[in-house]
Amino acid sequence: MNDLSTLFLSPDREGIARAAEILGSGGLVAVPTETVYGLAADATNDLAVAKVFEAKGRPQFNPLIVHLPDLKAAESLADIPAMGHALASAFWPGPLTLVLPQKSGAPISPLVSAGLDSIAIRIPANTATCALLRRLGRPIAAPSANPSGRISPTTAQHVADGLGDRVDGILDCGHCSVGVESTIIGLTGDQAALLRPGGLPVEVIERCIGVPVRRKIAQDKVTAPGQMSSHYAPRARVRLNAETKQPGEILIGFGQIPDADLNLSVASDLTEAAANLFATLHKADRMGGPIAFAPIPETGLGLAINDRLKRAAAPR
Ligand code: TXA
Ligand code: MG
Repeated sequence: MNDLSTLFLSPDREGIARAAEILGSGGLVAVPTETVYGLAADATNDLAVAKVFEAKGRPQFNPLIVHLPDLKAAESLADIPAMGHALASAFWPGPLTLVLPQKSGAPISPLVSAGLDSIAIRIPANTATCALLRRLGRPIAAPSANPSGRISPTTAQHVADGLGDRVDGILDCGHCSVGVESTIIGLTGDQAALLRPGGLPVEVIERCIGVPVRRKIAQDKVTAPGQMSSHYAPRARVRLNAETKQPGEILIGFGQIPDADLNLSVASDLTEAAANLFATLHKADRMGGPIAFAPIPETGLGLAINDRLKRAAAPR
């Protein structure tokens, strides 16, 4: 529930200045992005980064995404291959994370990449968060601002409900427009690899670079909550590809589903469905009772939506 001590900051000059102050002194601020809210810490401060893991209750072996205001900042921390530059100019700022070789001597806490010599970078498309990054003048590490294994937050209230007083402030920009996490592309090998489907369809990425992206995620390196099976989990049991509603179930529809209690997109629009996904899961979870999802097509953003739903439904 809402913790009255949670500090909500408005995305104006004053709120951004306060958020920068908190981050600069090693505190945690939940920040809006176009995908989901992130739990931000100064990425150069070991203690601050450790607090992120502690606040989320997250296993330490999961590396975090570094958020930056622009490409220039990215170039100072990572070696960006030609393909990375093509993707950056097409899709940054936006829901795309690139895993790149980290420059030696980059002032990033080793906790951020969990000791790997790579770095995951993204430039979020949220003006308040970019203004905050510029004001702070340091990179921030930010996983989604939810307790580990639970539903990702797409409103400031979701953050307050899940993390309460474990954050020092929440920069409140209302609803996240994309609603699922960024697509993660690995650029440390010979071929671009899809490490996590997300808010930017992989087909769109392939059209940009003109070569296929390797889909299979290496099973030997489980690096991410995004790659753990029971993740994004509501408290209730979740059933997928439900053709009909069973007694007691909350049915979440996609398209024209007459007996749906909630609907991701009546118009069968995958972009709208992605934007509504986590808020709908939060809502269904509050209603109580088992949750059933109508089938969602496995194309475009449907890939990311189904990926999150499979994890929400995984045995735990
Ligand atoms: O949209 C998003 O990406 C959100 C917002 C807040 O930006 N962030 C997010 O972060 O989803 P998080 O911590 O929940 O997911 C981080 C993912 C992990 O699944 C991890 O596998 C991958 O990023 N990752 C981070 N650094 C990596 C690295 N060096 N190598 C491989 N994967 C990495
Ligand atoms: Mg997450």
